[in-house]
Amino acid sequence: MDFKVKAGSKLTGEVQLPGDKSISHRSIMCAALAEGTSVINGFLEGEDCLATLDAFSKMGVSINRTDNKVVVQGVGLNGLKEPDSELYLGNSGTSMRLMSGILSGQKFPTVLTGDSSLSSRPMERIISPLKLMGSRISSSSEGNPPIEIQPSLGLNSLSYELPIASAQIKSCLMFAGLYANGPVTVIEHLETRNHTELMFQQFGIAVEVNETGKARKIKVTPPKSFLATDINIPADFSSASFFILAALITPESELLIKNVGINKTRVGFLHALRHMGANIELKNETNSFEPTADILVKTSNLKGITLNTRLVANMIDEMPAFFIAAALAEGTTKVKDAKELRAKESDRLQAMSEVLEAFGAKFHLNGDGIVINGLGKDGVFNPSKINSHGDHRIAMASSIASLRAKGETIITDCNNVNTSFPNFIDVSREAGINIVET
Ligand code: S3P
Repeated sequence: MDFKVKAGSKLTGEVQLPGDKSISHRSIMCAALAEGTSVINGFLEGEDCLATLDAFSKMGVSINRTDNKVVVQGVGLNGLKEPDSELYLGNSGTSMRLMSGILSGQKFPTVLTGDSSLSSRPMERIISPLKLMGSRISSSSEGNPPIEIQPSLGLNSLSYELPIASAQIKSCLMFAGLYANGPVTVIEHLETRNHTELMFQQFGIAVEVNETGKARKIKVTPPKSFLATDINIPADFSSASFFILAALITPESELLIKNVGINKTRVGFLHALRHMGANIELKNETNSFEPTADILVKTSNLKGITLNTRLVANMIDEMPAFFIAAALAEGTTKVKDAKELRAKESDRLQAMSEVLEAFGAKFHLNGDGIVINGLGKDGVFNPSKINSHGDHRIAMASSIASLRAKGETIITDCNNVNTSFPNFIDVSREAGINIVET
């Protein structure tokens, strides 16, 4: 599937976006292992989260989907059954890495596979700490999927300092901690998204978080069992980032994005944009288990910034959108230490440099960073044909960037937008964007 986008009219009105991908994955995992019935509202019915849902169904968990609600009959920590076949997880790194923690604690073997993108993503980062706990996990000799996990002979307690700022590694170990014979402590020096901590607390699982200096220590004490609970999932801030960008860069726009998750570990993009001079207001803030707000965005004249390196982990999925904002800002934007972008669904530093090149933006890659010289508020991109590399976020960032191109832009290989934002085209059109799929 390709997208065709014409520089369009202004973005106005209100939009409601689909649920948060990270929270949706965790809600299914915890609800499946709980005792009793959990009702999940606002679950993201994107391919990635459906891959997680499907995998737990294959392990004997009864899960029903009706009207944006998912009802999960938990089987308890030791109630999963051996699946009949390998578990195919599509494009979803989160499913594979977090489930490896859970499956390391099971008394049956499993094999986890994925599509060609997932099959080339690094798994050694979870395999090595899981092995320290006694997991019988292995991958290809290159450290990629498929992952094979032999029946557990028991998992040990662990204290582990994250070598990479990654919520997926942290969460994998926290889930493995549910099956350990003592506490599992993960130490992070850069704060990563804390959805697993919040989800565990919501299910009554003991998690202690201690901040000492710049380190955060997250300690999970293995429970004997835990009870089901209901979960409300807000809209995904990462999906919202594309509409924030769209309203900022399109003249005369004023867009309200309703009920978005604004967890402080996720909104680095908001801080960076405000630093650039963006007019963004938060309204109707709530303090539920995952804080939410409506986000009001107005067209703004952005200025280049040097991005605080500590924000990178906090806005890792928003970097493609951020690069587009920088390419249309006044002045220079500098980003350093963004190596993790190379380990996503595509090498996003490389993919975005091709996108920027095709649009005629001024930039140079600088090792694992980038320097972008913005075209300014009146800058226009060249109309172009863009290769999204099958990466949902590259496809969506490029679609929005096309709003500032002189003519029509075609973005190819966009099927994977369905992994995180299945109704992207509909919502875009509702907001005033002239986009069609071909
Ligand atoms: C995620 C963590 C991040 C993010 C991914 C979702 C999660 O990955 O990029 O989209 O749900 O934990 P890393 O932990 O690899 O940075």
